[in-house]
Amino acid sequence: MIPVIAIDGPAASGKGTLARRIAAHYGLRHLDTGLTYRAVAHALVAAGKPLDDDAEAVAVAARLDLSAMDRAVLAAHTVGEAASKVAVMPAVRRALVERQRQFAETPPGAVLDGRDIGTVVFPEATAKLYVTASPEVRAKRRYHEILAGGGEADEAVILADIERRDARDMGRADSPLRPAEDAHLLDTSDMTIETAFQAARATIDRALERH
Ligand code: DC
Repeated sequence: MIPVIAIDGPAASGKGTLARRIAAHYGLRHLDTGLTYRAVAHALVAAGKPLDDDAEAVAVAARLDLSAMDRAVLAAHTVGEAASKVAVMPAVRRALVERQRQFAETPPGAVLDGRDIGTVVFPEATAKLYVTASPEVRAKRRYHEILAGGGEADEAVILADIERRDARDMGRADSPLRPAEDAHLLDTSDMTIETAFQAARATIDRALERH
């Protein structure tokens, strides 16, 4: 079996940065599965369709070109909010999970980051990491990211957004965000990205040896 690394965690936990680094280090393909939900939400809004139109959302999901998702457009905060609403619909999840599995099963293997990779998309993944940090730390990181990009933000508003998104992602009935039983927990609250990467690498190296 080809290697698949599952990286789950809440919004702004740093899992995306970590996933990209891991993919580059091990020479694997990378898929940010959050972008797939974002792309479906964005397409619905662009077509003037309501976010709970599951037939339309499934059709969009089935024809989505995973290689043409525009991170710059999809990164918008409003798109993330819309994505977490689209993500509660089981039919949409089934359609996207199917696409995500196809991606992961293509050689040489992949790093997938999201909310349900270790629990639903790839329960048999070679290695599973659950990356988290306290809501306050995540809000602070996001705040500094926005300032560094020349934007303006209110840290308290970001914190409230993060808490609302966590509640929606962890509270939904289908595939809620939670660590898989065999996931390695990585709380990055007091870690730099470099420390987090070294910790992740140690776990993945061990898993690859057993693989
Ligand atoms: O990681 P992100 O902020 O780009 O994710 C956007 C939304 O998509 C998130 O709030 C929940 C949903 N999502 C999901 O339900 N399952 C995934 N595997 C990835 C994202």
